[in-house]
Amino acid sequence: MPNHLDQAPTAEALSIDTSNMYTDGVGTEGVTPDQVAALSKELTAIHNHIQTDTRHGLNAEFACLTLHEQMRAQLGEIKAMAAEIQQYRHVLVIGIGGSSLGCKAIRHALKPDRRLANNTGLCFIENIDPYHLEQIFATLNPNQVAIIAISKSGGTIETVVQYQIIRNWLETELGKTTAKQRQWLITDPTTGWLREVAEQERLPALAVPPKVGGRYSVLTPVGLLPLAVAGIDIEALLSGAATAASACQSAVISENSAMEMAALYFLLETTKDKHVSIMMPYINRLRLFADWYCQLWAESLGKRDSNKPSVSLAGSLPVRAMGAIDQHSQLQMYLESRLDKMFSFITLGQWRHDIPIPEGNRGRDWFPYLENKGLADVITAEFFATRQVITETGHPNLTITLPDLNAYALGQLTDLYQRVTIYTGLLYGINPLDQPSVEKGKKLAIDYLKSH
Ligand code: PA5
Repeated sequence: MPNHLDQAPTAEALSIDTSNMYTDGVGTEGVTPDQVAALSKELTAIHNHIQTDTRHGLNAEFACLTLHEQMRAQLGEIKAMAAEIQQYRHVLVIGIGGSSLGCKAIRHALKPDRRLANNTGLCFIENIDPYHLEQIFATLNPNQVAIIAISKSGGTIETVVQYQIIRNWLETELGKTTAKQRQWLITDPTTGWLREVAEQERLPALAVPPKVGGRYSVLTPVGLLPLAVAGIDIEALLSGAATAASACQSAVISENSAMEMAALYFLLETTKDKHVSIMMPYINRLRLFADWYCQLWAESLGKRDSNKPSVSLAGSLPVRAMGAIDQHSQLQMYLESRLDKMFSFITLGQWRHDIPIPEGNRGRDWFPYLENKGLADVITAEFFATRQVITETGHPNLTITLPDLNAYALGQLTDLYQRVTIYTGLLYGINPLDQPSVEKGKKLAIDYLKSH
């Protein structure tokens, strides 16, 4: 059976349907165009601020929104490094949070089966779980293993300890010199433990642009190197991001999807009590994309306004649901519990290949409506039906349709959600780029280790 990802990529723009976020589409639980228009002055000021700021490229506060341009110069170096790493069958990508989720999401969307890429498979090492590492050691042949260790700060404890353990394993199995030839690092260009290791041991290391925060870094070497190793077209990924960026140039809400989506998510949460934001892809391979969205949204928006510290202005809680799986799990609650949710569906405009449902067996008498149908027809019907009941129940929802499942579309989706998150954060009056409370937790864990 042909794999549809091997076909010529479709370079079309995403289509975004927000009509069911408004009262006209969903009734009184939606927002009115007037409410959105009332945000126009504030959003335009935010937009203009971002536009002026991003002229500074990688030195901009919102440097993450310039990566589609800024990273092009580095593609040659990244691809050359990826080609070296591809000699090895198993590439252990060690990193956590923003240093893993985006890359995992895009890899899963485009090369979910390691055999599709080349002979190299990526294995993500995130959680500090001795059973998991034991299993890696027990099943992988060290002769075929390479490491990419990723930490922007260069000191995240989960990454540091697992990198040290895996390095040690390779040194024991292969000797120090060979083990050294199997390591690539991605970290801050000048500071942190990992940078020090790179310099002292002369290990090849790529830089994370200092102004780009972890969860916004998938379009830097953090995502681009492992994705190139997996055989993903990173140039198309950046081109897709560029397309999304240029579609969001206008300062007019109705001409700028990022502004409109931010206004809608913000208004629904603050004026309509939609405190839960559910991303529900009807594409299996976007399961991890929804996880990436959850981290991006939660860590960026779950904050208090520093000018009003006593008021919790935490943004909506991001939740991942999968169509059609969660129709058999979460949907009952969506349809009969509180109207505190909004939905973002993601679908595919066309399935390049479908699997026909076999005819001529006894099932045909039971399911006559399946005649001449394929799996894509079934999932498409289920999506339309679910969206309809969600809408009729009164839950505001939007739908993003990907023209195709390829790097170009994923680049657009990535840039779009980074943009929407930043606009939304600025509407809340918070800094969408930091994560002060997470830092507190990291510090406390270290204190705990010191005192036990
Ligand atoms: O988005 C963020 O900033 C975090 O999720 C970080 O990516 C995560 O804590 C890992 O940090 P680092 O890349 O410094 O190891």
